[in-house]
Amino acid sequence: MNPRNSGPKSDQAPVSRRHRVADDAGDRLLRYESVDEASIRVMVQTFYGCIREHPRLGEIFSRRLEGRWDEHLLKMESFWQSVLLKNGAYKGKPVPAHMKQKELVSSDYGEWLTVFRPVVRELFVPDLADEIIMVAERIAQSLWLATFGFAAATPPPELSVTTSEWGGSSR
Ligand code: HEM
Repeated sequence: MNPRNSGPKSDQAPVSRRHRVADDAGDRLLRYESVDEASIRVMVQTFYGCIREHPRLGEIFSRRLEGRWDEHLLKMESFWQSVLLKNGAYKGKPVPAHMKQKELVSSDYGEWLTVFRPVVRELFVPDLADEIIMVAERIAQSLWLATFGFAAATPPPELSVTTSEWGGSSR
């Protein structure tokens, strides 16, 4: 889905347009120049509108969230508020929520970002978009490590040092 066509309709959400400014890039699209609860709501709604159409990730979300979408979107709004506004709205645990999704494959986090980045670039002025994307990339990396890091992890060096061998108890 093109993020440009996927935001909530004007009669559905009180989008605070006064926070959006004309973009200098020439396409005259209004973009948010600050992050607040209203712009986060639009980001979350737009992103999930797009990811639901992703051929692989859309299926995963649909299977897991059937009948629970409203709850998930509210949760994700509070998550992004906590991350970007630091208001402590989110109390959950993202790592176990992803570790239990056994169908995930390593490339899924990269795919997630390929959907997230253009949504954020479409909605926010470039500097702000860069910051939000960087934060999302860091979280995606730590979720990836939690989900897949074990296979790639190197055991601690002391597990392969052969020179320091235990000489047995002196007693
Ligand atoms: C591999 C890509 C991803 C997939 C397929 C995915 C899928 C899901 C699904 C299906 C849930 C709902 C779990 C449930 O309630 O049963 C969920 C929850 C969540 N996801 Fe993701 N996710 C992905 C990446 C990310 C990334 C990169 C972030 C953050 C930047 C994120 C943040 C969250 C958070 C905060 C929750 C709520 C956890 C909770 O408190 O229950 N996810 N995700």
